[in-house]
Amino acid sequence: MINIGLLGFGTVGQGVYRILQDKGEDLKALLGLEIEVKSILVRDLYKERVTEVPLSKLTLNPDDIVSDDSIDIIVEVTGDVDLSYRIISKAFERGKHVVTANKAVVSAYFEELSHLAEENRVSFLYEASVAGGIPVLKPLKDQIRLNRISRIQGILNGTCNYILTRMTDEGLAYDEVLKEAQKLGYAEADPSSDVEGIDTMRKLRIISTIALGASITEDDIICDGIDKVSDLDIELLMDRGMKVKLIAEARKVEKGYQAIVQPKALPVASYFAGVNGAYNGISMDGNYSGTLGFQGPGAGMYPTANAIITDVIDCILETQKKDSPLRGRKLENRNEDIAATYYLRISGYDRSMDNIKEHLQEVLHDEDGEFAFISKEVKLYQLLHMLAEFEDKPFSLIAIEQ
Ligand SMILES: NC(=O)c1ccc[n+]([C@@H]2O[C@H](COP(=O)([O-])OP(=O)(O)OC[C@H]3O[C@@H](n4cnc5c(N)ncnc54)[C@H](OP(=O)(O)O)[C@@H]3O)[C@@H](O)[C@H]2O)c1
Repeated sequence: MINIGLLGFGTVGQGVYRILQDKGEDLKALLGLEIEVKSILVRDLYKERVTEVPLSKLTLNPDDIVSDDSIDIIVEVTGDVDLSYRIISKAFERGKHVVTANKAVVSAYFEELSHLAEENRVSFLYEASVAGGIPVLKPLKDQIRLNRISRIQGILNGTCNYILTRMTDEGLAYDEVLKEAQKLGYAEADPSSDVEGIDTMRKLRIISTIALGASITEDDIICDGIDKVSDLDIELLMDRGMKVKLIAEARKVEKGYQAIVQPKALPVASYFAGVNGAYNGISMDGNYSGTLGFQGPGAGMYPTANAIITDVIDCILETQKKDSPLRGRKLENRNEDIAATYYLRISGYDRSMDNIKEHLQEVLHDEDGEFAFISKEVKLYQLLHMLAEFEDKPFSLIAIEQ
């Protein structure tokens, strides 16, 4: 018998519980052992839940679970960073494997937790933390054994992709789609971590650290979101055959690496332009593998729970190495060299904003103080420096994929 301690019984926790109930016999046949969810951590014992569970399994005390020697694997799906950091660390020290979907805790403590798991010879698996239901970390860890990954890119946030897709397909305004997305449960009541790119940045932190073999932290990544993208921006770029997507990207460059999350305009026929709705997509370029692409549901009860239980099976069958996948290469951050052609729209533009002229390639729109243009190739920092001179003028900046 394998006992699981489940931390959290929300969308994902209930998905894990349900699949384990439904597939109990099949898993027993596969593993030669039964899997039992022994205890479940929640905040409120008496909350109404759609999944029935005996009250005796629920606890308010995480230490009950992590101190229980009969529990072999901790599945952490609370979303609470401080609590999960403390419990995951303690679980490793007590010889328990940990599976988590919590990108915030993996991103904040990636190196420390990876080394602690390795030291204690236990598995630390977090497939569901990046791109929810898409198996991408396991293939990535396999590929880095042979390949040098020169670039990894992704659409990693379903909420942003859902909003941009509806703005593009239906010509709707950002606020209108956001409100609807909140009603439908695609966006949180407080959407800031999604729409400001923070959630995407944490996921890039995780995949880029594995892919490039260097410690790339949250502070090493330039981060922008979709909250300034308007329907006008989308329309003007669509007229030029381009779709706007929030793209996370880390690449190896001659003297180090660059890592950025930003809205990008992509040719409509490109791979990422075809990743729509709440779906996520990832591509990685290996020197032997070539470009590999992955696409699928980036969230949701069953896709995410499926990724978690696949990790649980790997813990039991020991089908993933317990060594940390992090390689600690020393690479220099070269974000200051990032350069591209940009789409830039400034609200409240007036003729005195002269320093735009040196960057201007083509004006797309000039009406009622809304000025939108395509720049010449320019360094991002140079453009941001210029924009800082306009102080409180709202702007929208979108990189153009050549
Ligand atoms: N939802 C998705 O599709 C998805 C996809 C990929 C990754 N994830 C990640 O998976 C994790 C869980 O997401 P979710 O959508 O399932 O969240 P959720 O629906 O909000 O559920 C969170 C659960 O954790 C419990 N909890 C939270 N903080 C706690 C604390 N301090 N002490 C005790 N219990 C606590 C809550 O207890 P109560 O029930 O008593 O309130 C609830 O059962 C997050 O890290 C998220 O980023 C989610």
